Amino acid sequence: MNLLIFGPPGAGKGTQAALISKRYKLTHLSSGDILRAELKTGELGAKIKTYQDAGKLVPDALIITIMEKAIIKNIKKGGVIFDGYPRTIKQAKTLDKFFKAKKINLDAVINLNLSETEAVKRALSRGQTSGRSDDNIKTIKTRFTVYNTQTTPLLKYYKKQKKVINIDGQLAIATVFKTIRQRLDK
Ligand code: AP5
Ligand code: MG
Repeated sequence: MNLLIFGPPGAGKGTQAALISKRYKLTHLSSGDILRAELKTGELGAKIKTYQDAGKLVPDALIITIMEKAIIKNIKKGGVIFDGYPRTIKQAKTLDKFFKAKKINLDAVINLNLSETEAVKRALSRGQTSGRSDDNIKTIKTRFTVYNTQTTPLLKYYKKQKKVINIDGQLAIATVFKTIRQRLDK
């Protein structure tokens, strides 16, 4: 099984992906975490940092290369859960082609629905301990604008493929996970 977890900044994608990954034995591929791990690596790291610090998306070509490498490395072990990738129509179309060539299927897109107020509150509260340079109110606002303009069109794209599972993401962590499990176990 290969999944994508979808939702705005601070929605709980990483939190739920970690639980899903453990329960269904899937490799958790978080594009944000993979990019943050690159930060210490010279020129590329410096480039990534300017985008992340501004709350803007790194260029498609760069993230596609990085994620394809991660997929190739992990797909042989079994299924994956994507968290934060794809995030643009270009990335989604490229992933579809890549999967098709390898005869792999993306089974479902778990869409976490919650209010912007709650998501901002979660990201800000995490910012107090995460050390993430993009968890401040100014950058969170930009991340939301970017999400609303560049990323939400993916929902329509995956709805057409009948892959979207809508989940109430506003509830407590355990409740959200329970709902996801009920839908996946069907
Ligand atoms: P990324 O790291 O993906 O950040 P994001 O999408 O903004 O999402 P977050 O990681 O902030 O939130 P989350 O949904 O994972 O929530 P979490 O579980 O942590 O991307 C960062 C940057 O990298 C981008 O801005 C961009 O620059 C770059 N990037 C990444 N992918 C890219 C791509 N594909 N293309 C181009 N650029 C890319 O939860 C948040 C907090 O809330 C936590 O403290 C958690 O404990 C808490 N929480 C979670 N669930 C609940 C709950 N149900 N109730 C109460 N608290 C909860
Ligand atoms: Mg995350």
